Amino acid sequence: MKKIVVLTGAGVSAESGIKTFRDSNGLWEEYKIEEVATFDAWRRNSDLVLEFYNQRRKQLMEVHPNAAHHALMKLEEKFEVQIITQNVDDLHERAGSKNILHLHGELKKSRSTLDENLVYDIEGWELKKGDFCENGSQLRPLIVWFGEAVPNISIAAEMTEQADILIIIGTSLNVYPAAGLLDYAKPNIPIYLIDPNELGVSGISNLTFIKEKAGIGVPKLVEQLLETV
Ligand code: OAD
Repeated sequence: MKKIVVLTGAGVSAESGIKTFRDSNGLWEEYKIEEVATFDAWRRNSDLVLEFYNQRRKQLMEVHPNAAHHALMKLEEKFEVQIITQNVDDLHERAGSKNILHLHGELKKSRSTLDENLVYDIEGWELKKGDFCENGSQLRPLIVWFGEAVPNISIAAEMTEQADILIIIGTSLNVYPAAGLLDYAKPNIPIYLIDPNELGVSGISNLTFIKEKAGIGVPKLVEQLLETV
């Protein structure tokens, strides 16, 4: 079976009703990264950080996977599919995709502030001050904040090296090291990039740019790939 690696970003969940970060009206227009998405922010004002992610989690409970998430699950009928997502939502999981690696954490989980190996499911939408890990330290959202190491990047790079086909969906490719995964793909494998906006990715001869929203572009590409097998 051929291996397909799919790198997704906020755009794959946009049609489910989750805001992207850098589009106009995106989350980083409404909030400052340094106030809600860094460890310094957590030290200075953990209430604000908890509230920011509580609101994201609450919203996640009201939305559903869209046609793009569902199409990626269908791809598994004929391919070995590995999803590498920058998203912290669980919409790939809810659509039924089997192999999902989260690079930037998971909204529905928490971790101990002191020990990154102590990870817990969050019941409901709220993580509160006074929610402690088993060793008595405050729980924080399981999010890889700006300035923090990305623990899953090495395994993601190895997965990308194994790909026979690479599909990139709905990411501005602005955030490293995730954006650098493209460089790990074997030379000349087909790369498909689906995004409604120009991304300024040029000079890659094996890259096909599909200028569509994920909800349209992904199902079309999946049908096309399934027909080739
Ligand atoms: P961005 O907000 O930077 O980029 C979203 C991309 O999705 C853009 O290229 C849009 O053109 C595209 N897009 C918008 N609507 C779309 C649609 N309907 N279908 C397909 N694409 C669409 O989001 P990311 O690249 O995911 O990290 O951002 C990377 C990281 O930066 C995030 O994981 C997050 C953020 O800060 C952390 O919070 C640690």
